[in-house]
Amino acid sequence: MIIRLRKNGPIVVDGDDVQVVDWNGSAYRIARRPVALCRCGASSTKPFCDGTHRTVGFVAPPATEPPDGSTP
Ligand code: FES
Repeated sequence: MIIRLRKNGPIVVDGDDVQVVDWNGSAYRIARRPVALCRCGASSTKPFCDGTHRTVGFVAPPATEPPDGSTP
């Protein structure tokens, strides 16, 4: 599994066995993969991203810097 933070966008979780469950342990239906989870708080399909981050102008915190100082 790989978890990627898109620049000014969702958290994308890539993996065939990824499940998203609520606080009761009930699984959400996964409509498409990879799974994109809302990071901006504006999605109308939370916990999934619906693309609204683009229209609300979501700006994510700066990217982390690699430990060796190289550019990713
Ligand atoms: S990150 Fe896409 S709608 Fe929130």
